[in-house]
Amino acid sequence: RIPEPFTVPYQAPPVLAPVRTDPATRTSFYEITQRPFRGQILPGVQTTLFGYNGMVPGPTIRARRNEPSVVRQINTLPEQHPTLGYQPWTSTHLHGAPSLPQFDGYASDISLPGQYKDYRYSNSEDARTLWYHDHCVHHTAENVYSGLAGQYHVIDTLEQSLPIPHGDYELPVSIGDAAFRKDGELLFDNRSESGLMGDVILVNGRPWPLLRVEQRKYRLRILNASVARGYRLRLSTGAPMTVIATDGGLVRTPQPVTELLLGVAERYEVIIDFAGLRAGQRVELRNAGVKNAIDYDHTDKVMAFEVTGPATSTVGNEIPAELNPTPKNMHLTAADAVRTRRLRFRRQGGEWTIDQLTWQDVIDSEFRDVRADPALGDIEVWELQNNSGGWNHPIHLHLVDFRILDRNGRPPRAQELGPKDVVYLGENETIRLVTQFGPNEGRYMIHCHNTVHEDHDMMHQFRVGRDLP
Ligand code: C2O
Ligand code: CU
Repeated sequence: RIPEPFTVPYQAPPVLAPVRTDPATRTSFYEITQRPFRGQILPGVQTTLFGYNGMVPGPTIRARRNEPSVVRQINTLPEQHPTLGYQPWTSTHLHGAPSLPQFDGYASDISLPGQYKDYRYSNSEDARTLWYHDHCVHHTAENVYSGLAGQYHVIDTLEQSLPIPHGDYELPVSIGDAAFRKDGELLFDNRSESGLMGDVILVNGRPWPLLRVEQRKYRLRILNASVARGYRLRLSTGAPMTVIATDGGLVRTPQPVTELLLGVAERYEVIIDFAGLRAGQRVELRNAGVKNAIDYDHTDKVMAFEVTGPATSTVGNEIPAELNPTPKNMHLTAADAVRTRRLRFRRQGGEWTIDQLTWQDVIDSEFRDVRADPALGDIEVWELQNNSGGWNHPIHLHLVDFRILDRNGRPPRAQELGPKDVVYLGENETIRLVTQFGPNEGRYMIHCHNTVHEDHDMMHQFRVGRDLP
């Protein structure tokens, strides 16, 4: 029942309309119901899923910079996951936003089935691709795997003014993987130290889709929304993809790459040019694989593009030589930092740990224990050390955008020359990053975004300035 790759058509999730907009404060109000449903991932097969508004992935939210949004997240999930058995509490994190702590989706700030919470976002950050996803304590992996993830775009005047692809030529590509039981239900097997690895690769919830493209440039908003899998993306033609934005928005100058390494939760906006290809030609987006991923027959494929013919529009068909004169925090250097901190990521006593501590230690300290306590506005260098032996960890800091200074003393990859909030900390690597802590005070999470590692229990917190709620 697993389809042949490249037979299911690509589909973008719908854009969510606000339930109302308040003109005085320019605030848009949204409502999302988290609910169980039976849907089709594999053609002709019904699978029990959890969806934001009953769809997987959730609808895309599009916000204008500095125009706030309020998202009411209503948990109408059952008391027990129908096939995986746990109790589906939820907490919604807007990944990539400098949210106030009370709206940041703290793992322990849960909504029970029957409860809702209004999340307020200022959208003050630069234009970027964000995603909203579940972050509930100990069950983030199952909740995200069941479908609780969606893209969220902030747009601004700089991004809108550039002659890059927009609209029909600007496509969300949320990549995930899944495994299925014989009865068509999701199989969740997280016993491997790599985390859960599915044999079916999904793009926007569809297995290895096919997208028809015109002979022109397209912009993909790529997100790795997998539970645990990392990817090394390449085009079957060997042609480059041009990175125009990282997690934290537009880079200074476009970066052509022939290979894009993609850890869980990383976002890259890339432009692919199909202009030189003939009608009928097919280009595959392939996965060359990463160390410690478990590969199956078709996990080396992601999606395919089939060229239809000449472009019906040539608007936004350029890649300007300069994209963004001031990417967030990319002017910072190690010399600007007031201190350096070191964090060690390793496996210990059957758990994944940060400095030998886990989220359980945070809970046990009644949320007082922090790994770092910068003052508001402090610039710091953080040295992330992976001593876990042979495992990789996509490390995520909430609240801030950082600049990657170096990896094992060497310069970061070309794809990483922009603001980041997740960094792929490879096997036995040491990475230095620099950031400025703000704009909010309060406690924020830091964790591995392999959600299986995160749930067991490679997560801790830092505090900026005063302890706000
Ligand atoms: Cu994408 Cu702590 O989250
Ligand atoms: Cu990890």
